Amino acid sequence: MTAPRYVPLLNRALVEEAARQNQALWGYGRTDAEHVAHTAAQLDHAGPELLRYVGLVGDHGLVAASKRYGLLFRVGGREARVMGIGAVFTRASERGKGHAPALIGAMVAEARDLGYAAAILYSDIDPAYYARLGFVALPAVDAFALPAELPSARALAFRPANEGDFDRLSAWYEASWASSPGAIRPLRSRALWRFFAWRNRVAEASILSDGGRDVGYLLASLDDPRRDLPEPRPEGLLWVDEWSAPGVDPARVLATIRAVAEHAGAREIALWPRPDSPGAPLRSSARTASFPMILPLSPGLVVDPARDYLGSFEHF
Ligand SMILES: CC(C)(COP(=O)(O)OP(=O)(O)OC[C@H]1O[C@@H](n2cnc3c(N)ncnc32)[C@H](O)[C@@H]1OP(=O)(O)O)[C@@H](O)C(=O)NCCC(=O)NCCS
Repeated sequence: MTAPRYVPLLNRALVEEAARQNQALWGYGRTDAEHVAHTAAQLDHAGPELLRYVGLVGDHGLVAASKRYGLLFRVGGREARVMGIGAVFTRASERGKGHAPALIGAMVAEARDLGYAAAILYSDIDPAYYARLGFVALPAVDAFALPAELPSARALAFRPANEGDFDRLSAWYEASWASSPGAIRPLRSRALWRFFAWRNRVAEASILSDGGRDVGYLLASLDDPRRDLPEPRPEGLLWVDEWSAPGVDPARVLATIRAVAEHAGAREIALWPRPDSPGAPLRSSARTASFPMILPLSPGLVVDPARDYLGSFEHF
């Protein structure tokens, strides 16, 4: 029996095999065939530069597999490539033999050789498992509020954004990080806006304006129960992924979120707060899954959990 070998690009037959193996865990009610089709659709939407499947293949086929995202980040003030590791899965009969660490090790070695600055993941298991491999945990916090708990005065006007707005959204997004130039956090390209809005069922991006002048954006839409976020989630939830309105009083943004929630008929508001998010009147509690973690790959790169951030928009 030879040791399974790392395959940096699974072919469609092996991707289908991976989907069949993980359907019980990540099928969210989809049949085997639907889950296989859904997995293929994710690859087609993303394109090969953003997403591929990798795995360990042994004498008797696929032993372990993972999604592998090629992302662009800002890391310590410069643009850098970052690998996203998602849906790590070892065939049930092969567990406990170190295949998952071997797969992650091979992915990390490949990324290092390509000059990547870091690897990230959102763990759904005890983060200690990945901490053993060198990943550093970021805060995993849920923030929430009832619409009536948010300020009501001086809300901004909001209207739906469209594909033509992606570059403006990216500029506002960049501006929102101006006070934390060293942070490790994603960069946004048009392809990334398009893919993650589709993957994460973010139905609405809104352009915010004040007296007819556009001042920023808000990503907030009624939660889709099929969205890949920790469960259970209450019905009628407005999921707020993020906003940016440089120079605008944060209380006015909260009032806008309240107005959007009321407009959508939402009963509750939830988000994963950024390190610089306003605290009160939002309440917070520890998250139960999707723990963001970063493994630095560049020499000298240090992860700072009080500064670095992986949000819900890019969650995978
Ligand atoms: C987690 C998983 C990928 C590990 O794969 P593996 O090839 O068996 O890797 P290992 O040989 O290191 O696994 C054994 C370890 O995994 C740990 N493990 C398995 N499931 C775990 C869980 N839900 N939470 C915490 N640790 C878990 C075991 O406790 C064991 O730890 P030990 O080394 O201290 O005894 C595998 O159990 C799996 O496919 N699980 C289902 C999919 C999943 O949950 N993936 C993780 C998504 S973040």
